[in-house]
Amino acid sequence: MPATVVVGTQWGDEGKGKLTDLLAKDMRLVVRYQGGHNAGHTIVVGGESFALQLVPSGVLYPSTVPVIGNGVVVDPSVLLAECDALEARGVDTSRLVVSGNAHLIMPYHYELDRATERSLGRNKLGTTKRGIGPAYADKAARIGLRVQDLLDPKIFRQKLEVVVREKNAVLAKVYNRLALDEDEIARRYLDELAPRIAPMIGDSVGIVHDALDAGENVMLEGAQATFLDLDHGTYPYVTSSNPTAGGACVGTGVGPRDVDRVVGIAKAYITRVGAGPFPTELDGELADLLVERGHEYGTNTGRRRRPGWLDLVMLRHAVRVNSVSEIALTKLDVLSKLEVVKVCVAYDDGGRRLDRVPYHQSVLHRVVPVYEELPGWEEDLSAATSITDLPRAARDYIACIADHAGAPVSLAGVGPGREQYVHVAS
Ligand code: IMP
Repeated sequence: MPATVVVGTQWGDEGKGKLTDLLAKDMRLVVRYQGGHNAGHTIVVGGESFALQLVPSGVLYPSTVPVIGNGVVVDPSVLLAECDALEARGVDTSRLVVSGNAHLIMPYHYELDRATERSLGRNKLGTTKRGIGPAYADKAARIGLRVQDLLDPKIFRQKLEVVVREKNAVLAKVYNRLALDEDEIARRYLDELAPRIAPMIGDSVGIVHDALDAGENVMLEGAQATFLDLDHGTYPYVTSSNPTAGGACVGTGVGPRDVDRVVGIAKAYITRVGAGPFPTELDGELADLLVERGHEYGTNTGRRRRPGWLDLVMLRHAVRVNSVSEIALTKLDVLSKLEVVKVCVAYDDGGRRLDRVPYHQSVLHRVVPVYEELPGWEEDLSAATSITDLPRAARDYIACIADHAGAPVSLAGVGPGREQYVHVAS
């Protein structure tokens, strides 16, 4: 059975947690393919809210095996704390598998993330300060420590010695920070964390292929989103991995021919956290209303998200770069009670109409959105269980999205609960 990829089509926080949870009930494996604990996926089950950072969404179903793929960066103490918190609430985490090839987030990665953001001053990226960028940088520089190194103290110490020497020199000489204690890091990772992580470490690539060969359903779950992608996002205001669907192949060891379904998650409006261009950004009363109604504050960091109208130029681009086969629309209920809803269908660049995301980012910074205005709807959508329960205007809004994006909308979320969505055949 080929795999399904779930990918964010905007700047993250599209509600991927709820969607992956919804799809996970039919999956044997749910494999996270990139990112780290910069992500925060919220799932509401029976009125109870679960905020997941590293553990894949499938953990809440007893028949699903959650896998952390090779493309993820893992802080083992965060992973263990998350498992403990889930266990305390009665969720069994014993099935969790962590790829031995995933890279470790180390204490100096946090230090460097904070130090570089500080030194960038007003040009800072607004990272989550979780050490994500520095950990991926070490991976690319081939000086990273991997999860499997926790199984071999000699190798771990050899690698650590070289890296800590270099990091301490940078921290002291470039950023005027205190040196980190190599022995203390080794003690924490090898003596405290390794014994608990070791039973989770496994051959994730083998496990995924065995499931595919056995005809089982496999989901590859992304974190962050298309426009935070290191290659396809609004660089440098991006994360340091590849959330786009191609990253799902690299981050799990599944080839493209093993993927036949790509679900692109799009929120009914847009938000972004951190700095970077945002053509449809709103301010004032309407912005406050979307933020409050949509609870648009970071799951982990608590930061207020920047809100804006839905940008269909971006969505069209995301459909292309991810080969999106269907769009799952989230938070449609948040737009209720607005007189008009606007969607951006093109950009205006000094009188020139652009139908595509410009490859030159200076252009994206200066464009003005060209909006199409649609009538809003008064009704509260939260109790809808079928497309026919939605008012005409909400259905037209969905149809307009599918039309401009070039992919069908398969479902629409009408509230945070697991069961609050309607199927759409657009
Ligand atoms: P980093 O991933 O911590 O390096 O942050 C880089 C950029 O990605 C910043 O603008 C963050 O706000 C953004 N970012 C990282 N993770 C998420 C997420 O899960 N949702 C939304 N934005 C994110």
